[in-house]
Amino acid sequence: MKNTKTILPVTATGLSVFVLAAILAMVAGSAIAKPPRTEQQMAQETAAYLQSVAKGDALWHDGSLGTNGLACGNCHPDGSASNPHTWPKYQTNLGKVGTLREMINWCITVPMQGKPLAYDSEDMIAMESYATYTHRGVAIAPGKDEQHGAVPVYGGPGYPAP
Ligand code: HEC
Repeated sequence: MKNTKTILPVTATGLSVFVLAAILAMVAGSAIAKPPRTEQQMAQETAAYLQSVAKGDALWHDGSLGTNGLACGNCHPDGSASNPHTWPKYQTNLGKVGTLREMINWCITVPMQGKPLAYDSEDMIAMESYATYTHRGVAIAPGKDEQHGAVPVYGGPGYPAP
């Protein structure tokens, strides 16, 4: 009897420590979102991303998003003055804190007189891919209101030649 009394609490403590350790192990295990990708998977993912960049590059320069002959590249050569690293932020033309995609649509509908893109469309994502790709390596500065001078426009109805 004497022995049982002393052994039982020890066993109960040992058991609860074991259960606690098992729960902790499960919680720690679930913190791993997914196993690391293989080199091949990473190469495929990079290729898919670069395809989106290439599509964005074409859309940025071919004028098909507008109706007045202007393309983004006329005013933002190589993605310049689009400042993708600064969004979301307050933008005067939007009159509120907005996103890069909202600003892309502002430029499509106002200076280019085109139809806005759906925010989740492949074309919109491609535009964002191109803008961010051309700014790779630039430090993220959310909320920063980038200041830049007049944007040169090389031709187009309503816009004087530089
Ligand atoms: C006719 C010239 C013109 C064209 C074409 C044009 N933009 Fe703009 N863009 C502007 C002007 C003007 C601003 C506002 C600059 C400001 O407020 O500081 C601007 C601002 C932007 C900004 C916000 C920059 C910032 O940091 O506030 C983005 C992003 C942008 N344009 C993307 C585009 C994209 C994408 C296209 C093509 C779909 C495009 N623009 C076409 C003139 C143009």
